[in-house]
Amino acid sequence: MAQLWGGRFTKETDRLVYRFNASISFDKRFYAQDIKGSIAHVMMLARKGIINDTEKEKIIAGLTGIMEDVEEGRLKITDKYEDIHSFVEAVLIERIGSAGKKLHTGRSRNDQVALDMKLYIRDELLIVDRLIEELLYAVLGIIEEHLETYMPGFTHLQKAQPITLAHHMGAYFEMFKRDHERLRDIYKRMNTCPLGSGALAGTTYPLDREYTAKLLGFDGPSLNSIDGVSDRDYLIEFLSALSMIMMHLSRFSEEVIIWNSNEYQFVELDDAYSTGSSIMPQKKNPDIAELVRGKTGRVYGSLNALLVTMKGIPLAYNKDMQEDKEWTFDAIDSVKGCITLFAGMLRTMQFRKERMKESAKQGFTNATDAADYLVNRGVPFRDAHGIVGQLVLTCIERRIALDELPLEEYKRISPVFEEDIYDAISLGVCVSRRTTTGAPGPEAMEKVLEVYRKYMEEYETA
Ligand code: ARG
Repeated sequence: MAQLWGGRFTKETDRLVYRFNASISFDKRFYAQDIKGSIAHVMMLARKGIINDTEKEKIIAGLTGIMEDVEEGRLKITDKYEDIHSFVEAVLIERIGSAGKKLHTGRSRNDQVALDMKLYIRDELLIVDRLIEELLYAVLGIIEEHLETYMPGFTHLQKAQPITLAHHMGAYFEMFKRDHERLRDIYKRMNTCPLGSGALAGTTYPLDREYTAKLLGFDGPSLNSIDGVSDRDYLIEFLSALSMIMMHLSRFSEEVIIWNSNEYQFVELDDAYSTGSSIMPQKKNPDIAELVRGKTGRVYGSLNALLVTMKGIPLAYNKDMQEDKEWTFDAIDSVKGCITLFAGMLRTMQFRKERMKESAKQGFTNATDAADYLVNRGVPFRDAHGIVGQLVLTCIERRIALDELPLEEYKRISPVFEEDIYDAISLGVCVSRRTTTGAPGPEAMEKVLEVYRKYMEEYETA
């Protein structure tokens, strides 16, 4: 065990205490961000004359060497050190000698860890955002292909009104679009640099915080040093955005599972994205969708854990905050894996158009249209509703669809019906007449599709 303190202590830390306290097993993940932050810090120290140029060159060369050696696997990050910050500093001093001891001038691990985590989250946020982009493209592909693929739309998981697959997918496009925008909002709000906040009260060195912030791509330095070291809001916002992504993926998964069931058979999952059973030879299970649904709980758990951890922490830094990392890392890994696999499953999934159309036909999804037919011929809607209700009952008794009921039966219940009722309640007409913005009619969908295409062209990825 290698420690950063000693002067004030007369005993070594107990072994168990040391292990309990250590974070290297997980914060080694952001070694690159730690080194990048240190390089910017050193450049600023030299610019302000706090260290000289020779020292700066030596430290930067040393840090760059450490970065390369870790990346190439020549230097192992071991748990001999408490955390990644002590590891980098100790190796630096070992390699370049006393100049290395100046690295930590005007800095505390409190503002250092705040910086590292922000840099790491910024990078990961952009990776998640890029995966959302891929997912949006996968959904867009289905929309483009299925503007006239009919299916029942549901409420209460009961067939409600006819829609198209494109329209149904459009709902998911909207959800993932909002996810993208949420990530962007978070990025903007979190993009201030905590470095220079020191332990909590800034430093007495003449640091140029604006310069460090600029070097690291921040919009500027954070404006309160206490908040600089103790703010974890952006993590909670990020975990909340990740939870929302998972909620969307989970609802989508649930639908894929239902659509893939023997009763529905709306979709056929690709063999590469499904699994078999060890005992039942006929099985082809939607495990990916189920796992995505399952992992949603895990990501919600991270959000909840961090909210609870943060609720009682007095200002400024407290060690409780070290707990932010494992939850966040686990959530990021889960979400990245889920989006990637889900998008793959979606791209390879086949839709059984005939089956979906048949299902839309069978569930009286055109009952509202039959009522509208009467309304257009002067019958008050409430009466029309009752009349069609009776028709539906007759059809249920006879096990037929509204389209199959003879005209005399229609007329028996209401003389207003004429031969053109069959056209009015045909699936194609029911859908295509829904032309208001946001509705499933292909004409309305085409316009929305144009907006979506443009949206994707302008998708900000940098
Ligand atoms: N490993 C610590 C964390 O993740 C780094 C900051 C340590 N600061 C301190 N005062 N002990 O929060």
